[in-house]
Amino acid sequence: MFLRLLQSLRFVLLLLAIAHPLSAQIAHEEFEGRRAALAAVVGDGIILAMGSAAPPQDYIAFHQNSLFRYLTGFRETNAALAMVVRDGGIEEILFVNPRDPATETWEGYRVGPDGAQAATGIRGRAIQELPGFLNRRLRAGARLHIVGNYQPAAPLRDDVTQRFLSLLAQLPQLELVPVNDEVNHLRGVKSEAEQDLLRKATAITVEAHREVARALAPGHNEFEIQALVEYTFRRYGAERPAFASIVGSGPNSTILHYNANDRFMEDGDVVVVDIGASYGGYAADVTRTYPVNGRFSDEQRAIYQLVRDAQAAAEARAAAGVSVAELNQVADSVLARGLAELGLIEAPNATFEGPGGQAIPQLRLYYMHGLGHGIGLDVHDPWPPVLQPGVAFTLEPGVYVRPNLLEEVIPDTPANQRTIEAIRPAFQRFINIGVRIEDDYIVRDDGTLEWISPAPREVAEVEALLAEARAEPRVGPAERRDEWVEWYRRMK
Ligand code: GLY
Ligand code: MN
Ligand code: MN
Repeated sequence: MFLRLLQSLRFVLLLLAIAHPLSAQIAHEEFEGRRAALAAVVGDGIILAMGSAAPPQDYIAFHQNSLFRYLTGFRETNAALAMVVRDGGIEEILFVNPRDPATETWEGYRVGPDGAQAATGIRGRAIQELPGFLNRRLRAGARLHIVGNYQPAAPLRDDVTQRFLSLLAQLPQLELVPVNDEVNHLRGVKSEAEQDLLRKATAITVEAHREVARALAPGHNEFEIQALVEYTFRRYGAERPAFASIVGSGPNSTILHYNANDRFMEDGDVVVVDIGASYGGYAADVTRTYPVNGRFSDEQRAIYQLVRDAQAAAEARAAAGVSVAELNQVADSVLARGLAELGLIEAPNATFEGPGGQAIPQLRLYYMHGLGHGIGLDVHDPWPPVLQPGVAFTLEPGVYVRPNLLEEVIPDTPANQRTIEAIRPAFQRFINIGVRIEDDYIVRDDGTLEWISPAPREVAEVEALLAEARAEPRVGPAERRDEWVEWYRRMK
């Protein structure tokens, strides 16, 4: 009863946290400030930012690209922003789809140029007027500063590049100067409004982790957990998962970006659940690793505690003025020492011979990614090399004991054979255990760290949460589950 009361209280608090109507909105003035900051670093000329094209097929969801969304907040298809910067003045125009009631019947309501102006504070024009506008403003040989994913040489041309290419075909010869880096530099530090959206995205993601813990049991499929996660996201107003949800159990726990999510989980597995809601366009990214049967085995607990220690050490060091490189070193040294103690590597600084004969730290056999990344409009968002107030980021150490490590990953050389024999006993003990623990943080104005993803993560907390879940299961098997499980097993 008390548990249930606590749970409903948490539910009310979550709704209060995410439903505040004013703070979810990023004001016109903030977007205007971002554009002015870009104009100030780029200088005189024309800046052209291209929105995403309408999806080539009907009926699939549209998502505005982050660079354009960052500068305008505008979320309709086929839009473009032109900024003419001259002698400190800026003329700005937002080119958008014109109103068209017949098309809108199928594709949804458009605000049109007037509505775009009301929504963004930028003067609106029909998108068809963009080439003529640029032709009038640009002299031949002029420089055009472009914002978007313009890479004509890349084999895969994205929708934004296609829009640039077809526009440029209508214009005189121009020198194109990409200014994506300048926009990304601004994106590395989050405003109050952005931080607020990130806190909400992570609050929803933490709630999804609690639902996962309540539902986990041997015999459930990974996709049942994924379904519960994504249901929870949408239920609290997140528009979508910020990336493909990862629910990797048993051997799949050792695959970093596994997302097939179609294995039936077994007693004795760990499951890596790496998920993130996108709320108001802002991405959370939170990973927990759970023992499917509710209790870590000795081997799982040892690896889990090591990963948690590495995260805690990096977290304790993280503050304004500290470099990302230093945080990586802190986590690396905890992991290397711990892996050596477990016998998974020969010594903290031991190496093996890579495919080209180069010496690679043995640590990288089990920990093959960086410690973290920025979060924001993109799940991997820009962040500066040294932390400062307003930077939002993840810390996500991991250890992954891949089943094919000795046979397929380590090159077959005499020196490596000695290493393989030295680590084989430990490898066999820890095989198929993958653990990642990932949290989200914002550097406060006073330089200290705010932990914004407080889902249970200590061994005892995780086991207590799973035990609580078993006492009061929240999600039971669906009706006729046995029947569709049988279909699925036969179909595979
Ligand atoms: N979920 C992707 C990552 O952790 O970077
Ligand atoms: Mn991440
Ligand atoms: Mn992640």
